Amino acid sequence: MDYTVESFPLHGSRPIGVFDSGIGGLTVAAALRGLLPSEQIHYVGDTARVPYGGKSPVTIERYSLEISRILLEEGAKLIVVACNTASALAVARLREVLDVPVIGVIEPGAAAAVAATRNQRVGVMGTRATVQSGAYERAIHALRPGVLVEAQACPLLVPLIEEGWLEDGVTEQVVGRYLDPMLAKGIDTLVLGCTHYPLLYKVLERYVGGSVKLVDSARNCALEVQSVLEANGLSAPQTQQGGLRVTLTDPSTSFLRVAAQSLGLEVGEVLLRSVG
Ligand code: DGL
Repeated sequence: MDYTVESFPLHGSRPIGVFDSGIGGLTVAAALRGLLPSEQIHYVGDTARVPYGGKSPVTIERYSLEISRILLEEGAKLIVVACNTASALAVARLREVLDVPVIGVIEPGAAAAVAATRNQRVGVMGTRATVQSGAYERAIHALRPGVLVEAQACPLLVPLIEEGWLEDGVTEQVVGRYLDPMLAKGIDTLVLGCTHYPLLYKVLERYVGGSVKLVDSARNCALEVQSVLEANGLSAPQTQQGGLRVTLTDPSTSFLRVAAQSLGLEVGEVLLRSVG
């Protein structure tokens, strides 16, 4: 991807802006923290308006622009759309109007799927908006046209995850309802096409068994961020102490617990900022 920085005076010590509707994008923030420990990450979780996945494309685009502007006001040097729904429906617009590099999670997820599949049958779980957009089919077929893509909208999962029901019988039952049709089609790879879903990794892994590989975009997305920063001379100085700062648009009781327990993330300051 070609990003230029001539038009804006950016500096490596500024933060990487990351956003999601809620806690899901923390799975991407965790990958960024692991790969790029010197980088400051400013994460915005739009907890006032989660979930995005059942909203219309126009609304998802508006929310994404609003949240990106908050990150830019705070000096973000690059924006990571750590939400598949916003990546599917708003990245193109964000790239048009923002003058910093914008990285989404769909292409990195599609690349992970194409690298993993052996039988060329890939399942994609996502929100309704992501599945309806067809973004994964397009991204996978752009890399390898012959792959059969079975996509399943899983609208009940994000509320269960936001509630912190990560290891729960109800969540397992819901997972089964969503996955059975895709498993019946013989998929050998399952894309966790929503950044919330890696928080259900254990449940999903148990359910699909050893013959289906689970892939998500977090690691590939972090690698893309690294290469865009390097290509544009925007990497943080090695001496900089990285960290994670979080802004929420509504106080959330489960946010910090899930961040600490499931992802081992140390969240420093948590700020509140109201939207729309
Ligand atoms: N984590 C998001 C995604 O990757 C959003 C889920 C939602 O808000 O519905 O799609």
